Amino acid sequence: MKVRKAVIPAAGLGTRMLPATKTVPKEMLPMVDKPVIQYIIEEAVAAGIEDILIVTNRAKSAMDDYFDYYPELETRLNQAGKDKELNEVRRAADLANIFYVRQKETRGLGHAIWRAKRFVGDEPFAVLLGDDIMRAAKPVTLQLVEAAEKYGASAVGVQKVDTQAISRYSSVKVSPLEERIFAVSDMNEKPKPEEMFSNYAILGRYVLTSSIFEILENVKPGYGGEIQLTDGLRELCRQEKMVAVDFEGRRYDTGNLNGFLEATIDFALDHPDTGPWLRRFIKSRAGEL
Ligand code: G1P
Repeated sequence: MKVRKAVIPAAGLGTRMLPATKTVPKEMLPMVDKPVIQYIIEEAVAAGIEDILIVTNRAKSAMDDYFDYYPELETRLNQAGKDKELNEVRRAADLANIFYVRQKETRGLGHAIWRAKRFVGDEPFAVLLGDDIMRAAKPVTLQLVEAAEKYGASAVGVQKVDTQAISRYSSVKVSPLEERIFAVSDMNEKPKPEEMFSNYAILGRYVLTSSIFEILENVKPGYGGEIQLTDGLRELCRQEKMVAVDFEGRRYDTGNLNGFLEATIDFALDHPDTGPWLRRFIKSRAGEL
Protein backbone atom coordinates (compact mmCIF):
# COMPACT_ATOMS: atom_id res chain seq x y z
CA MET A 1 0.00 0.00 0.00
CA LYS A 2 1.57 3.29 -1.13
CA VAL A 3 -0.20 6.59 -0.40
CA ARG A 4 0.61 9.10 -3.15
CA LYS A 5 -2.54 11.23 -3.20
CA ALA A 6 -4.32 13.50 -0.76
CA VAL A 7 -7.67 15.24 -0.70
CA ILE A 8 -8.23 18.48 1.20
CA PRO A 9 -11.88 19.43 1.61
CA ALA A 10 -11.98 23.23 1.73
CA ALA A 11 -15.46 24.08 0.55
CA GLY A 12 -16.96 25.26 3.84
CA LEU A 13 -18.52 28.69 4.10
CA GLY A 14 -16.43 29.77 7.09
CA THR A 15 -19.45 30.92 9.05
CA ARG A 16 -17.61 30.62 12.39
CA MET A 17 -15.08 33.26 11.31
CA LEU A 18 -17.33 35.99 9.91
CA PRO A 19 -17.03 38.77 8.97
CA ALA A 20 -13.34 38.10 8.11
CA THR A 21 -14.30 35.17 5.89
CA LYS A 22 -17.01 36.98 3.92
CA THR A 23 -14.65 37.53 0.98
CA VAL A 24 -11.40 35.85 2.08
CA PRO A 25 -11.55 32.04 2.22
CA LYS A 26 -10.86 30.88 5.79
CA GLU A 27 -8.09 28.65 4.42
CA MET A 28 -6.34 31.80 3.15
CA LEU A 29 -6.25 33.61 6.49
CA PRO A 30 -2.65 34.22 7.53
CA MET A 31 -1.15 31.97 10.19
CA VAL A 32 1.87 34.16 11.02
CA ASP A 33 3.36 34.54 7.51
CA LYS A 34 1.64 31.80 5.50
CA PRO A 35 -2.00 31.00 4.77
CA VAL A 36 -3.57 28.18 6.79
CA ILE A 37 -3.89 25.94 3.71
CA GLN A 38 -0.12 26.00 3.11
CA TYR A 39 0.53 24.26 6.45
CA ILE A 40 -1.87 21.51 5.40
CA ILE A 41 -0.24 21.09 1.98
CA GLU A 42 3.23 21.03 3.59
CA GLU A 43 2.11 18.29 5.98
CA ALA A 44 0.87 16.19 3.05
CA VAL A 45 4.11 16.72 1.13
CA ALA A 46 6.13 15.76 4.23
CA ALA A 47 4.24 12.44 4.23
CA GLY A 48 5.49 11.65 0.72
CA ILE A 49 2.34 12.77 -1.09
CA GLU A 50 2.79 14.10 -4.63
CA ASP A 51 -0.71 14.84 -5.95
CA ILE A 52 -3.20 16.88 -3.96
CA LEU A 53 -6.82 17.64 -4.73
CA ILE A 54 -8.45 20.60 -3.02
CA VAL A 55 -12.25 20.48 -2.97
CA THR A 56 -13.30 24.12 -3.23
CA ASN A 57 -16.35 26.24 -3.96
CA ARG A 58 -17.08 29.28 -6.09
CA ALA A 59 -15.79 31.74 -3.50
CA LYS A 60 -12.32 30.23 -3.09
CA SER A 61 -10.36 31.10 -6.23
CA ALA A 62 -7.78 32.97 -4.09
CA MET A 63 -6.45 29.50 -3.24
CA ASP A 64 -5.74 28.51 -6.86
CA ASP A 65 -4.08 31.90 -7.40
CA TYR A 66 -1.88 31.42 -4.36
CA PHE A 67 -0.43 28.12 -5.61
CA ASP A 68 0.23 29.56 -9.09
CA TYR A 69 3.23 31.54 -10.36
CA TYR A 70 2.94 35.33 -10.25
CA PRO A 71 5.41 36.62 -12.91
CA GLU A 72 4.94 40.39 -12.30
CA LEU A 73 5.56 40.03 -8.57
CA GLU A 74 8.48 37.63 -9.06
CA THR A 75 10.19 39.98 -11.57
CA ARG A 76 9.77 42.88 -9.17
CA LEU A 77 11.20 40.92 -6.23
CA ASN A 78 14.08 39.74 -8.40
CA GLN A 79 14.92 43.28 -9.52
CA ALA A 80 14.78 44.49 -5.92
CA GLY A 81 17.14 41.70 -4.81
CA LYS A 82 14.50 40.33 -2.40
CA ASP A 83 15.69 36.76 -2.75
CA LYS A 84 14.14 35.42 0.46
CA GLU A 85 10.67 36.69 -0.50
CA LEU A 86 11.10 35.50 -4.08
CA ASN A 87 12.02 31.99 -2.92
CA GLU A 88 9.04 31.81 -0.58
CA VAL A 89 6.60 33.03 -3.24
CA ARG A 90 7.98 30.54 -5.75
CA ARG A 91 8.16 27.66 -3.27
CA ALA A 92 4.43 27.87 -2.54
CA ALA A 93 3.69 27.30 -6.22
CA ASP A 94 6.11 24.36 -6.48
CA LEU A 95 5.10 22.44 -3.35
CA ALA A 96 3.09 19.71 -5.08
CA ASN A 97 0.89 18.95 -8.07
CA ILE A 98 -2.31 20.63 -6.93
CA PHE A 99 -5.67 19.93 -8.54
CA TYR A 100 -9.04 21.48 -7.82
CA VAL A 101 -12.65 20.39 -8.03
CA ARG A 102 -15.67 22.32 -6.87
CA GLN A 103 -18.19 20.79 -4.54
CA LYS A 104 -20.93 22.86 -6.27
CA GLU A 105 -23.45 22.17 -3.48
CA THR A 106 -22.84 22.38 0.28
CA ARG A 107 -23.97 18.89 1.19
CA GLY A 108 -21.48 17.86 3.87
CA LEU A 109 -17.99 16.43 4.32
CA GLY A 110 -18.90 13.00 2.93
CA HIS A 111 -20.19 14.61 -0.26
CA ALA A 112 -17.04 16.76 -0.56
CA ILE A 113 -14.85 13.64 -0.33
CA TRP A 114 -17.04 11.84 -2.84
CA ARG A 115 -16.17 14.60 -5.35
CA ALA A 116 -12.58 13.24 -5.28
CA LYS A 117 -13.60 9.89 -6.77
CA ARG A 118 -12.23 10.51 -10.28
CA PHE A 119 -9.01 12.04 -8.95
CA VAL A 120 -8.30 9.17 -6.57
CA GLY A 121 -9.21 6.21 -8.81
CA ASP A 122 -8.51 2.96 -6.97
CA GLU A 123 -5.54 4.04 -4.83
CA PRO A 124 -5.46 4.60 -1.08
CA PHE A 125 -5.43 8.31 -0.27
CA ALA A 126 -5.02 10.70 2.64
CA VAL A 127 -7.65 13.22 3.75
CA LEU A 128 -6.56 16.37 5.59
CA LEU A 129 -9.35 18.66 6.78
CA GLY A 130 -8.62 22.23 5.72
CA ASP A 131 -9.36 23.77 9.15
CA ASP A 132 -7.18 21.47 11.24
CA ILE A 133 -3.53 22.45 11.53
CA MET A 134 -1.17 20.09 13.34
CA ARG A 135 2.01 20.91 15.22
CA ALA A 136 3.97 17.69 15.52
CA ALA A 137 7.58 16.48 15.51
CA LYS A 138 6.57 13.81 12.98
CA PRO A 139 3.87 14.95 10.53
CA VAL A 140 0.53 13.51 11.61
CA THR A 141 -0.32 12.34 8.08
CA LEU A 142 2.97 10.42 8.00
CA GLN A 143 2.06 8.75 11.31
CA LEU A 144 -1.22 7.61 9.72
CA VAL A 145 0.37 6.55 6.43
CA GLU A 146 2.87 4.35 8.30
CA ALA A 147 0.10 2.68 10.32
CA ALA A 148 -2.06 2.20 7.21
CA GLU A 149 0.85 0.64 5.33
CA LYS A 150 1.82 -1.59 8.26
CA TYR A 151 -1.70 -2.96 8.75
CA GLY A 152 -2.86 -2.80 5.11
CA ALA A 153 -5.83 -0.85 6.43
CA SER A 154 -7.58 2.50 6.42
CA ALA A 155 -6.46 4.71 9.30
CA VAL A 156 -8.08 7.56 11.22
CA GLY A 157 -6.22 10.04 13.44
CA VAL A 158 -7.66 10.23 16.94
CA GLN A 159 -6.99 11.81 20.30
CA LYS A 160 -8.86 11.68 23.58
CA VAL A 161 -11.22 14.59 24.19
CA ASP A 162 -13.35 15.45 27.23
CA THR A 163 -16.77 13.84 27.42
CA GLN A 164 -18.43 17.29 27.23
CA ALA A 165 -16.52 17.99 24.00
CA ILE A 166 -17.23 14.71 22.19
CA SER A 167 -20.46 16.07 20.66
CA ARG A 168 -18.31 18.29 18.39
CA TYR A 169 -16.54 15.25 16.88
CA SER A 170 -16.97 11.65 15.82
CA SER A 171 -16.47 9.08 18.58
CA VAL A 172 -14.74 5.81 17.72
CA LYS A 173 -15.16 2.28 19.11
CA VAL A 174 -11.64 0.95 19.57
CA SER A 175 -9.73 -2.09 20.81
CA PRO A 176 -5.95 -1.92 21.35
CA LEU A 177 -3.50 -3.41 18.84
CA GLU A 178 -0.24 -1.85 20.00
CA GLU A 179 0.90 1.34 21.67
CA ARG A 180 -1.10 4.23 20.16
CA ILE A 181 -2.81 2.01 17.55
CA PHE A 182 -6.29 0.51 17.83
CA ALA A 183 -8.64 -1.55 15.71
CA VAL A 184 -11.83 0.36 14.81
CA SER A 185 -15.18 -1.42 14.77
CA ASP A 186 -17.73 1.42 14.91
CA MET A 187 -18.12 5.18 15.19
CA ASN A 188 -20.75 7.90 15.27
CA GLU A 189 -20.86 11.59 14.31
CA LYS A 190 -21.35 14.22 17.00
CA PRO A 191 -22.83 11.87 19.64
CA LYS A 192 -24.38 13.01 22.89
CA PRO A 193 -22.19 11.91 25.84
CA GLU A 194 -24.51 8.96 26.53
CA GLU A 195 -24.22 7.79 22.89
CA MET A 196 -20.43 7.96 22.53
CA PHE A 197 -18.33 4.83 21.96
CA SER A 198 -15.19 6.21 23.62
CA ASN A 199 -13.41 9.49 24.33
CA TYR A 200 -11.32 8.95 21.22
CA ALA A 201 -12.43 11.48 18.61
CA ILE A 202 -11.35 11.66 14.97
CA LEU A 203 -9.39 14.89 14.52
CA GLY A 204 -9.01 15.90 10.90
CA ARG A 205 -6.72 13.24 9.41
CA TYR A 206 -7.54 10.01 7.55
CA VAL A 207 -5.98 7.49 5.17
CA LEU A 208 -8.72 5.69 3.26
CA THR A 209 -9.07 3.00 0.65
CA SER A 210 -11.03 3.83 -2.48
CA SER A 211 -13.86 1.55 -1.28
CA ILE A 212 -15.17 4.64 0.54
CA PHE A 213 -16.50 6.10 -2.72
CA GLU A 214 -18.99 3.34 -3.46
CA ILE A 215 -20.12 3.53 0.16
CA LEU A 216 -20.53 7.34 0.08
CA GLU A 217 -22.74 7.05 -3.00
CA ASN A 218 -25.29 5.24 -0.84
CA VAL A 219 -24.93 7.11 2.45
CA LYS A 220 -28.16 8.85 3.48
CA PRO A 221 -28.04 12.35 4.98
CA GLY A 222 -27.13 12.07 8.68
CA TYR A 223 -26.24 14.61 11.37
CA GLY A 224 -27.37 18.12 10.35
CA GLY A 225 -29.06 16.72 7.22
CA GLU A 226 -25.64 16.37 5.54
CA ILE A 227 -23.80 13.44 3.95
CA GLN A 228 -21.36 12.63 6.75
CA LEU A 229 -17.96 11.09 6.11
CA THR A 230 -18.29 9.38 9.50
CA ASP A 231 -21.37 7.49 8.31
CA GLY A 232 -19.37 6.26 5.32
CA LEU A 233 -16.43 5.26 7.54
CA ARG A 234 -18.76 3.39 9.84
CA GLU A 235 -19.70 1.17 6.91
CA LEU A 236 -16.07 0.99 5.68
CA CYS A 237 -14.81 -0.32 9.02
CA ARG A 238 -17.41 -3.10 8.84
CA GLN A 239 -16.30 -4.12 5.34
CA GLU A 240 -12.51 -3.71 5.68
CA LYS A 241 -9.79 -3.37 8.26
CA MET A 242 -9.47 0.10 9.84
CA VAL A 243 -7.09 1.32 12.51
CA ALA A 244 -7.12 4.42 14.71
CA VAL A 245 -3.82 6.16 15.44
CA ASP A 246 -3.61 8.13 18.68
CA PHE A 247 -1.29 10.57 16.99
CA GLU A 248 1.52 12.52 18.63
CA GLY A 249 1.15 16.24 18.16
CA ARG A 250 -1.22 19.07 18.84
CA ARG A 251 -4.23 19.86 16.70
CA TYR A 252 -5.64 23.37 16.28
CA ASP A 253 -9.11 24.02 14.89
CA THR A 254 -8.40 27.20 12.93
CA GLY A 255 -12.05 27.36 11.80
CA ASN A 256 -13.05 29.09 15.04
CA LEU A 257 -11.65 32.22 16.58
CA ASN A 258 -10.15 30.74 19.75
CA GLY A 259 -8.45 27.89 17.90
CA PHE A 260 -7.17 30.30 15.30
CA LEU A 261 -5.65 32.57 17.97
CA GLU A 262 -4.10 29.63 19.86
CA ALA A 263 -2.45 28.42 16.66
CA THR A 264 -1.29 31.92 15.75
CA ILE A 265 0.41 32.38 19.13
CA ASP A 266 2.06 28.93 19.15
CA PHE A 267 3.28 29.16 15.55
CA ALA A 268 4.51 32.74 16.10
CA LEU A 269 6.41 31.58 19.21
CA ASP A 270 8.09 28.88 17.08
CA HIS A 271 8.93 31.21 14.21
CA PRO A 272 12.52 32.54 14.24
CA ASP A 273 11.46 36.01 13.00
CA THR A 274 8.72 36.52 15.58
CA GLY A 275 9.39 34.08 18.47
CA PRO A 276 11.88 36.05 20.63
CA TRP A 277 9.93 39.30 20.22
CA LEU A 278 6.55 37.66 20.97
CA ARG A 279 7.91 35.99 24.10
CA ARG A 280 8.99 39.40 25.45
CA PHE A 281 5.69 40.99 24.40
CA ILE A 282 3.57 38.31 26.11
CA LYS A 283 5.61 38.59 29.32
CA SER A 284 5.25 42.35 29.45
CA ARG A 285 1.51 42.12 28.69
CA ALA A 286 0.97 39.38 31.28
CA GLY A 287 2.23 41.79 33.93
CA GLU A 288 -0.49 44.27 32.96
CA LEU A 289 -3.38 41.75 33.00
C1 G1P B 1 -15.59 17.14 11.15
C2 G1P B 1 -15.99 15.67 11.10
C3 G1P B 1 -15.89 15.05 12.49
C4 G1P B 1 -14.50 15.27 13.05
C5 G1P B 1 -14.18 16.79 13.05
C6 G1P B 1 -12.78 17.10 13.54
O1 G1P B 1 -16.56 17.88 11.86
O2 G1P B 1 -17.30 15.56 10.59
O3 G1P B 1 -16.16 13.67 12.40
O4 G1P B 1 -14.40 14.71 14.34
O5 G1P B 1 -14.32 17.33 11.73
O6 G1P B 1 -11.83 16.72 12.64
P1 G1P B 1 -16.71 19.49 11.71
O7 G1P B 1 -15.60 20.08 12.52
O8 G1P B 1 -16.60 19.80 10.25
O9 G1P B 1 -18.07 19.80 12.28
